Amino acid sequence: MDFISTLDELTSNDLIKLNEFIELTVKDEPFIGEVCLPLVRGGKRLRPILFFLCAKSDKNYSFEKIMPLATAIELIHTASLVHDDILDSSNMRRGEITANAKYGPQIAVLAGDYLFAKAFQLVSEGSYGDKVSLILSKLVKNLCIGEITQDRSLFTVPSMTEYYERICLKTAIFLSSCCELGAIAANLNKADTKSLAEYGLNLGLAFQIVDDLLDFFGDPSATGKSLGGDLKSGVITLPVIRALSMSNESDTLLNLVTKSNISDSEVANAINIIKQSDSEYYCKMRANAHIDSAMVNLPNAIDSSIKLVLLQIADFVINRTW
Ligand code: FPP
Ligand code: MG
Repeated sequence: MDFISTLDELTSNDLIKLNEFIELTVKDEPFIGEVCLPLVRGGKRLRPILFFLCAKSDKNYSFEKIMPLATAIELIHTASLVHDDILDSSNMRRGEITANAKYGPQIAVLAGDYLFAKAFQLVSEGSYGDKVSLILSKLVKNLCIGEITQDRSLFTVPSMTEYYERICLKTAIFLSSCCELGAIAANLNKADTKSLAEYGLNLGLAFQIVDDLLDFFGDPSATGKSLGGDLKSGVITLPVIRALSMSNESDTLLNLVTKSNISDSEVANAINIIKQSDSEYYCKMRANAHIDSAMVNLPNAIDSSIKLVLLQIADFVINRTW
């Protein structure tokens, strides 16, 4: 399914302008521009789209006013991915060779830092206020805690609670914050802002569960990432947790996923064991439950046309192949 085609015409126009603004923002230093341009191209733009849609709850919203904040959101996300690819030693991202694979980790760290600094420059220049800065700094803090927690528990099997804590920190709080920031831009009341933040949180949980599934069941030409990447880097996710508790071959699987130098054929073996269990069905069921919770959290105050797109996004998240 094509994500962009699910969006209404107005959002698509916003996206075209957003992409132009993002490119202009990162192009201002020649070499850094060359490094960063491919990094900011090709993403789904899910986070700024959520922000825009929630901000549009205010019929008189000013696109020009909120555009820099939407850009900052996408740049923070891209910066985190650039750093994540260094941590995971990933070679492919968004269908392109990663910055660390192309330029080495030194330049990649600095490119991520640059995008991050640019994001906060836009936020300062936009004078969005302390509340916005606080939400952004908290979400970045949570991203870091999520990554550190993950890094400290590589090659060990997390409990379900630990897994959920990690995906909240890594993904769900970010999506929730985008909705909250949009609601704040639209001056929605506290209850509606909270409901939209809850929608984003559940959407984020479903998004990360599907992401973790795609690592085993996805098509690399669609995801733009190689298969079994999480296993190779020692990140144990829900499909493995489930297969370990259900498979007849759980001892073999446990040996494989806790091995720090797993070979390609062992990765293929682990994926096979996971595929033979009910893991895919189970993870989809859990992701669906979060999508259901996301849907019921949409406040009545928001326009039905916006609601429809938020529902379509939920549908995309659950059915996506990339
Ligand atoms: C992708 O997860 C990575 C993240 C969701 C967050 C990464 C965060 C940091 C590196 C810390 C924050 C840094 C800055 C500069 C803001 P994944 O590895 O599960 O997904 P993937 O398969 O797409 O790599
Ligand atoms: Mg990664």
